[in-house]
Amino acid sequence: MSSPQRGPRGIVPTGVERDFGPEEIIVSKTDRRGVITYANEVFVRVAGYPEDRILGSPHNLIRHPDMPRAVFQLMWDVIGSGSELFAYVVNLAADGGHYWVLAHVTPTRATDGRIVGFHSNRRWVPPATRRTVADLYRGIRAAEAAVAGTKDAVAAGTAALAVELERRGTGYDELVWSLAAADERAGATR
Ligand SMILES: Cc1cc2nc3c(=O)[nH]c(=O)nc-3n(C[C@H](O)[C@H](O)[C@H](O)COP(=O)(O)O)c2cc1C
Repeated sequence: MSSPQRGPRGIVPTGVERDFGPEEIIVSKTDRRGVITYANEVFVRVAGYPEDRILGSPHNLIRHPDMPRAVFQLMWDVIGSGSELFAYVVNLAADGGHYWVLAHVTPTRATDGRIVGFHSNRRWVPPATRRTVADLYRGIRAAEAAVAGTKDAVAAGTAALAVELERRGTGYDELVWSLAAADERAGATR
């Protein structure tokens, strides 16, 4: 995946894929607004930023321009309401490379039940699944890029995602789970 667009920090995607081990997990924790409060060693290595640059940064530090706005909107809607979400995400590393993850994002609650932050565990994604999701996201991004303004872009992307799910006769969670389950069955080697 290469894109002429820049990430939020002005980094130009190079199209070079970065990888990490199928047995590794990339972990981060954030406050309620998505500011990073913890990143594990694998996160630091794969994202390619010094740890002190990561901690305290909003999580869009590693936002890749190929990621649909609609997917992040869905993520925030779901986790903000107290539920968990699985999402395929392509991230932008400090050197302009990118890496695919399957993120499991969950709310963190205080003992009184209030949401005090969020937690994301990310697993490796087999190359065939990266291509499948990249195709899906390309169509959604095109729908978002065709309209001006962030709010309208989110709406256009959300509508495009709904059309795509309808066409496949599935829902968002079902699609993600079916891709992840197929990867499990294939031994995550494709
Ligand atoms: C726990 C958690 C983990 C997140 N992980 C990522 C991530 O790995 N990559 C990413 O681009 N955004 C991630 N986000 C979403 C960002 O906060 C942000 O919504 C997204 O990058 C879109 O940024 P934008 O609104 O500037 O387009 C995460 C949010 C939370 C709460």
